[in-house]
Amino acid sequence: MPADLDTKHGGRRLSLGPLCQIPVGEGRGFEAGNERIAVFRPRCGGVYATQAHCPHRGGPLADGLLGGTTLVCPLHAWRFDLASGEVLTGGGRITTYRVVLTADGDMVIDLGIGSP
Ligand code: FES
Repeated sequence: MPADLDTKHGGRRLSLGPLCQIPVGEGRGFEAGNERIAVFRPRCGGVYATQAHCPHRGGPLADGLLGGTTLVCPLHAWRFDLASGEVLTGGGRITTYRVVLTADGDMVIDLGIGSP
């Protein structure tokens, strides 16, 4: 899904549009420029964002299965904690991002300082 990358004020923010485009219990992939993010809406509540690709062999994390805040990669079933980014099968971490919801229900992700 397309997203808007805003690089004003030295930071980088991704505007992803309305939360309602992600069904509860599923994830969706977003991209803008070189940025690729997976966003999840678990049934237990909250909205989580991670890097788009699995650190094992690049599987599409947005297509993974959710159980609470545990994500299972669709290719070889590595498991990840969405809140911490911890890889639950083998150690290490994936990159996570904080998702802010605007008053209009839109999702915005702060990617921090970096080159656009
Ligand atoms: S690509 Fe994700 S577990 Fe292998």
